[in-house]
This record gives sequence, C-alpha cells and structure tokens, in this order.
Amino acid sequence: MTQPRSGYSTVAIALHWAIAAAILFQIGLGWRMGGLKGPSAFALFQLHKSVGITVLLLSLLRLAWRLTHRAPSHAHQPRWERLAAGATHVALYAIMIGLPFSGWIMVSTSRIEIPTLLYHVIPWPHVPGLAGLAAGPKAAVHDAGDVAHHALVLITLALLALHLGAVAKHQFIDRDGIFANMAPGARPRLAEPRLWGAAIALILAFALGRGWPAAETPAPQASASAAPAPEPSTSADTPEPTPEASASEAAAEKTPDAAQPIAWAVAKSGSKLDFTADWSGQPITGHFGAWDSDIVFSPDALPASHLKITVDIASAATGDAQRDASLPSADWFDAATHPHAVFQSDRITQTSPGHYKAVGTLDLRGVHKPLTLAFTVAIKGDTATASGQTVINRTLFGIGQGEWAATDQIAANVKVSFAITARRR
Ligand code: HEM
Ligand code: HEM
Repeated sequence: MTQPRSGYSTVAIALHWAIAAAILFQIGLGWRMGGLKGPSAFALFQLHKSVGITVLLLSLLRLAWRLTHRAPSHAHQPRWERLAAGATHVALYAIMIGLPFSGWIMVSTSRIEIPTLLYHVIPWPHVPGLAGLAAGPKAAVHDAGDVAHHALVLITLALLALHLGAVAKHQFIDRDGIFANMAPGARPRLAEPRLWGAAIALILAFALGRGWPAAETPAPQASASAAPAPEPSTSADTPEPTPEASASEAAAEKTPDAAQPIAWAVAKSGSKLDFTADWSGQPITGHFGAWDSDIVFSPDALPASHLKITVDIASAATGDAQRDASLPSADWFDAATHPHAVFQSDRITQTSPGHYKAVGTLDLRGVHKPLTLAFTVAIKGDTATASGQTVINRTLFGIGQGEWAATDQIAANVKVSFAITARRR
C-alpha cells in the first residue's frame, strides 16, 4: 500500500473533488427542476438522475478506497477535533451514498413509470424489488424516499457548512496545513490559490446546475429513425401544391370522372400523419413514419368513395429517443399485440364545397370505436391534396395503462392530423 507523504492518495483526492463538484451541481439542478413541469422538466430529470447515479457509484468507490487505504495521520490534533472530524466525515459518506440512493428509490417507485437512461445511453434499472410492489406499499416507499431526499439535501448543506468551517479554521486560525491533505502543495495562508480555486469551481458547479437550460430541443421530424425513406419516383412526380392549384380548386373539383370515384396513391414525400398530446400544458408533437392508405374518392361520387388508413403503430416518434422507446410498450400502444391502427370509413359526406366528413371506425390497440374525420380536398388534374384532423380520447383505447391512465399530466385528448398529396393510380 503506497501512501503519499502527507495527504490522501491521488485517487482519493480526485474522487473527493469530483464528488463534491457533482453534489453541488446536483443541488443547483434539483432546485432548478423544482418549478418545472412537462417535457422540459423531463430532460432535466434525466440529467439529474444520470449525475446522481454517478455520484452514488463514485461514492461507493471512494468509500471502498477509504476502507482499504490508510488516511493521513491526524495525531497532532486534539481528541475532540479528531472525533468531530471523524463524525462529520462519516456523516458526509452517509449523504454521499444516502442522498442519491433516496432519489433512486423515489424514481423506482414513481406513480408514473419512467425508465432511466443514464446520459441518454446506459439503461439503469430500478432498485430491485421496488418497482413490482403493490400500489399502496409502493406509494409509501415513494413518500419515504421523497422525504429522505429533501431532508438529506438540508443535512448535506449543514454538513458542508461544518466541513467548510473546519477547513477555514485549519487554514486561517490553526494554520496547520490540513487543506494540503486534499490539495497537495497548498500552504496554510489566506491567499492560497488552490483554496480559492476550489471554492470558485464548486460555486460554478452549483451555478451550472441552477442555470441549466430547460428547453428540450425537439429533434427534427425527418431525423426520426422510423420514418421510411421517401420514394424518389413519386416525389418527383408529385410536387407540393402550388398557388395556382389552390386558386383553381373549385373548378378542378367539378371535373373528376362522373360515375366512378378515383383511386388515389399517396406520395410518401409531402404527406404526413402527426399527433399532438398535451403534457402539463406543453404540446408534445409526434408523427407516424410508416402508414398505408387505400383511398377511393371523388367529390361527385361520394356514395362509392371510401378510405382506409393503416398505421404501423411502432413507427410513432416524438423526437425523444427515450420517450419513443416506451411508446410501443404494453403501457402505451402495445405494438407487439396490436401492431396496426386502422381507420375505415363507412360513409363520406360533403359539409361545404371542398370540405368533407368521413364517418367510420377506428380500430386502435384492439378497441373499436366510431370516429369522424373532417377533411378538405383539392384536386387539380391528376394530383389531389388533402388535410384533416380529429381528436382521439386516448383513455378510451387504453393508451396509457395503470398510472398512465391518469390525465393530470398527459391529457386524454390527442389531436391527430394529416396532410397528404396523392396521384391518380
Ligand atoms: C459536498 C461536498 C463535499 C463532500 C461530500 C466532502 C466529503 C469529504 C469527506 C467524506 C472527507 C473525509 C475523507 C476521508 O477521510 O475519507 C473529506 C475530507 C476533506 N475535505 Fe471534503 N467534501 C466536500 C467538500 C469540500 C470542500 C468544498 C472542501 C474545501 C474547500 C473540502 C476539503 C476537504 C479537506 C481539506 C479534507 C481533508 C480533511 C482531513 O484530512 O482531515 N471538502 N471531504
Ligand atoms: C448527489 C446526488 C443528488 C443530489 C445532491 C440531489 C439533490 C436534489 C435536490 C436539491 C432536489 C430538489 C429538492 C427540492 O425541491 O427541495 C432534488 C430533487 C429530486 N431528485 Fe435528486 N439529488 C441527487 C440524486 C438523485 C438521484 C440519483 C435521483 C434519481 C435516480 C434523484 C431524483 C430526484 C427527484 C425525482 C427529485 C424531485 C423530487 C420532487 O419533485 O419531489 N436525485 N434532488
């Protein structure tokens, strides 16, 4: 066992400062999270969990190191001081481990089950045995974790005050060089750059957490991995609607084949199927990257017109990899059992020129419910553009099981909208 001449070993020192900075960052970030809800808070929580679990692991390592390596001698100090320092240090180890552990308990027993992905990459489990508890005991454990987490933050601040008070006493009053144990080369003087450097670095760590930007940058829709590649042939043939196309809408509508409705092929590029959910007052927008349609429609052959849209449920993407990973799960779409959602029209009627209503059935997550889809269509020659929207009450289809069924965070009504460009088949 090698010991440096006076202070702690390099590993112990590196861990001490890394853990101290991370804890101060976490307190800043924890206070930052307090006033936030919804998707922006979600990103901060993930960061808080990531750094917090890192503190837990580093602290366990630090403790293991401490127990297997000798600490510098404090024999020159009075007995009361050695006892006080020993007690404070034991208490500091207790919060270094207990504080993140209480947070982990809280997250593992949350009413709303949220998976943890450390730094967006490493899946982290719940505390073994807790996630499977019945609702009652689970809520009790969660509350205990919550109380402990808050109390341990206050205890941390109190211990830090004692700890810093002791450092100051040794540095400025006793001038016995204790600070050099943790900062090799430091001298017992007021103008010690290592002391002020450490103080500034730790204040910055706190400020960094306190000021962490909350805005979650939504990933552009096109980057979602589930989106199918556009089909070059159709995209070349079906340009976006032009101003002239809309100007001549009314005239064009009168010209399709009289008796038979037209079968339309939807161009993948220039067509989209989106949904918007409300999460604590903030909209979460997503889209389905893969869906198929069977559209037979002409304004003057409405009785024979019909449409059927088949959506590949697993292609839902909201721009947040972690959230998207949970969408196909049994709690949400249950895509393994119900891979497709299907809307099939029974009848299509005109509500005003260019405006239509398709009354039909939506089969979503194994539940069949009547659904009315309002949409507009403009046809110019061989190209049609259509758009429309409807509102789906997700709870009627069992989207959001268990605790997710509650609508206090994520509203029941989800807006679904589409915009398509189609060509005559
Ligand atoms: C949340 C922040 C901090 C935590 C959790 C913490 C934790 C600890 C622990 C557990 C020890 C005992 C090491 C051992 O004997 O195993 C220790 C020692 C020490 N800490 Fe901290 N510390 C923190 C912040 C600071 C700060 C801000 C300073 C100085 C500016 C500092 C200076 C020292 C010094 C000089 C020692 C060595 C004491 C001795 O040799 O008796 N610590 N710290
Ligand atoms: C060193 C580690 C940690 C520190 C210093 C810390 C600090 C804090 C602070 C200051 C708050 C705000 C409390 C308040 O509003 O009064 C907070 C909240 C929270 N922390 Fe931590 N935390 C740590 C680790 C963790 C870990 C590892 C997790 C989960 C894996 C976690 C989960 C939470 C949660 C869920 C809240 C929100 C609690 C609520 O809204 O009631 N924390 N934390």
